[in-house]
Amino acid sequence: MSIRTLLTALAAATTLLFPLILAEERQKCGEASYFPSEQTCYNDKTLCPKQYSLPSRPCAGSGGCYLPQEYTCGDDGILRDLPDATGPFTLAVWGERFAYRNQTIKACGGYLAIGANARQCHACTAAGGTNCGSYKNATVFLPDGKMNAAVPGHQYWFVDPSTGLLQYTEALPRNASIGWNTTVPSQEFAGLNVKVKQNGLFIWDKEGSSYTNHWWFACLVTLPGGAVSTARSWRIYAPIISELNGCELVRIVATAVDKSYGVYKYS
Ligand SMILES: *[C@@H]1O[C@H](CO)[C@@H](O)[C@H](O)[C@H]1NC(C)=O
Ligand SMILES: *[C@@H]1O[C@H](CO)[C@@H](O)[C@H](O)[C@H]1NC(C)=O
Ligand SMILES: *[C@@H]1O[C@H](CO)[C@@H](O)[C@H](O)[C@H]1NC(C)=O
Ligand SMILES: *[C@@H]1O[C@H](CO)[C@@H](O)[C@H](O)[C@H]1NC(C)=O
Repeated sequence: MSIRTLLTALAAATTLLFPLILAEERQKCGEASYFPSEQTCYNDKTLCPKQYSLPSRPCAGSGGCYLPQEYTCGDDGILRDLPDATGPFTLAVWGERFAYRNQTIKACGGYLAIGANARQCHACTAAGGTNCGSYKNATVFLPDGKMNAAVPGHQYWFVDPSTGLLQYTEALPRNASIGWNTTVPSQEFAGLNVKVKQNGLFIWDKEGSSYTNHWWFACLVTLPGGAVSTARSWRIYAPIISELNGCELVRIVATAVDKSYGVYKYS
């Protein structure tokens, strides 16, 4: 992407996605003034827009701003794509509303969700000599479509092809065929359609999809019998369906972590 395209895209995103922030004080950046919710000031000189509350940064020599979760800025002032993630990572959601800023995605009951009511569910049974004390409790993903769980067989994260819902499987039997089967999630619905940058964006990237984009939806969950306002939990959807109610646009950012942060089994 050229700098020009990038700046245009950033400007468009800024205009589109920043509704009025009530009573926010303007601040000075050199001679210019700006809203801190919309821009970041560098060296009292350069203003760079925020996207989904993620600050972009100036790329010296290029005159433009870039998102460090998307590009690196070379000494030559040229933006280059971040490399793909090669190891385990956690995911956090970023969005306009405070509720969506840097919220860690948690696994529970087959769903991946954020919010105060989003739980992290995992289990371990010491039967068969499993040393449960050696596992931690974070929701950790692997770039090849697996969850970072030690249970025999594998648990996979995937995007439901009909709704876009981000989910994960139970442990599949050893050597289960996970390919090209509508009932068993396959690579088609996991790694191949999601690009993960090293300490960067988690991107829905289905080839041929008109919704290929760098954003996802976070959608408020209403638990059975519960009012929307009592269920402070949002599930994550790939932008497959263009109109979803109770949803906000978010970006998802991967953070590389040690493999030991995973669990025995996500339950
Ligand atoms: C996001 O949250 C994690 C902890 O959950 C923290 O370590 C990290 O610094 C936060 N990132 C930002 C940019 O606030
Ligand atoms: C993980 O375990 C640590 C230490 O026991 C605890 O402080 C933390 O809240 C736990 N995190 C989750 C997501 O359960
Ligand atoms: C599972 O696959 C591995 C590697 O392909 C093979 O060595 C092993 O025999 C298989 N196990 C079963 C039970 O099919
Ligand atoms: C698809 O998944 C079902 C349910 O696990 C299984 O019974 C069936 O054998 C699978 N088919 C193929 C072609 O893998």
